Amino acid sequence: MNIQQFIEHLPKAELHLHIEGTFEPELMFQLAERNGIELPYADVESLRAAYDFNELQDFLDIYYQGMNVLRSEQDYYDLTWAYLEKVAKQSVRHVEIFFDPQGHLERGVAFETALNGIYSALEKGQEIHGISFGLIMCFLRHLPEEDALTTLELAMPYRDKIIGVGLDSSERGNPPSRFERVFAKAREAGFHIVAHAGEEGPPEYIYQALDLLYVERIDHGNSSLQDPALVRRLAEAQIPLTVCPLSNTRLCVVDDMENHPLPQMLESGLMVTLNSDDPAYFGGYLNENFSAISSLVDNDPTILAELARNSFRAAFLDEAQKNKLIAEVDNYLADQQIN
Ligand code: ADE
Ligand code: ZN
Repeated sequence: MNIQQFIEHLPKAELHLHIEGTFEPELMFQLAERNGIELPYADVESLRAAYDFNELQDFLDIYYQGMNVLRSEQDYYDLTWAYLEKVAKQSVRHVEIFFDPQGHLERGVAFETALNGIYSALEKGQEIHGISFGLIMCFLRHLPEEDALTTLELAMPYRDKIIGVGLDSSERGNPPSRFERVFAKAREAGFHIVAHAGEEGPPEYIYQALDLLYVERIDHGNSSLQDPALVRRLAEAQIPLTVCPLSNTRLCVVDDMENHPLPQMLESGLMVTLNSDDPAYFGGYLNENFSAISSLVDNDPTILAELARNSFRAAFLDEAQKNKLIAEVDNYLADQQIN
C-alpha cells in the first residue's frame, strides 16, 4: 500500500471542525432553494470562486453569509449528516465538532433548532457509522461578553448534549481576557474548555487562554512558536494544539504548505493533532489535511500514526475509550507494508 492509502484507512479523530464550515456549495444552493433564499452568487462555481482569502476576516464574512441559509432543524440535520457521511469514508472514528449558536440566534433561529438538528444527525452517525461524538459550542469573540453569557444560559439545560465551550471568530483585537467571566461560569457548570488562540493573534493570547480561561486544548496555537518559553510550557504540560494545515495556508497564516511549522512543532515536543477547521471552504477534510503535510514528515507512517494517536489522546473521551482507539492505530500500523 502507498502512503495515500495508508492515510485513508488510518483510524483518526477530528477535534477542530466548525460544522457550519462543512457547508458545501451544492448543499448550500439546495437549502437556499428549499428556504426561498436568494444567494448572492449565480451558481456553485461562482460561489467557490469567492473562496479566495487573504486573512481570517475575509473568510469569516463569507462563512457567516453562508450559514444564513440554515433555518430549520432539518437544515442543520442535513448539514451534519452530509459531513458524517463524508468522514465515515475517511476512517474517522470520533468527532468533536463546534457550532456557533450566536451565528444562528442573531438571525432569529432558536438555540434548540440548531442544537437538535446537529445532535440528531450525530446520534445517527454513531448508530449507522459507529462514529462517537462530542458537541462543543463556541462563543463569537467579535461580540460582547454579555452575548456569550446569554448564550451560556441557553445552553444550561443541555449540558448532557454539549460537552464543552470554545471561542472563535475574529481573533485580532479580541483577546481571551474579554471572556474571563463567561468561561469561569462554563467551567463551574462542568463544560470542557477550549479556545482558538494564536491563529492570527500573538503568543500573549495563548497565555491568556491558558491562565485566564483554563483551556484544556488550544485551537491552532501557531504563534506559540514565536515564544520559546511558551513552547516549553505547552510541551511540558502536553496541552494539545489542534493544528489545521489547509486552513493555515488558505487564510495565509502560513505562506506555503512547504513552510508549514508542523515538523518544528513535533520536534519541540508539542502535542499536535491534525484537523480540518472549515473543510468546505479550505479544500479538504481530515485525510486531505494528512496528505497535505505527509511529505513534510518524509511520508513516514509512524509519524502519521502518532498524529492519529494524538487525536485520540487529546479527545474528551475516557481512558478506556482512548486506549481502545489508540490500540486500533497500533494494530493498523503493525499490519501495514508501506511501499
Ligand atoms: N470560525 C470558523 N472557522 C474559524 C477559524 N479558523 N478561526 C476563527 N473562527 C472561526
Ligand atoms: Zn477553527
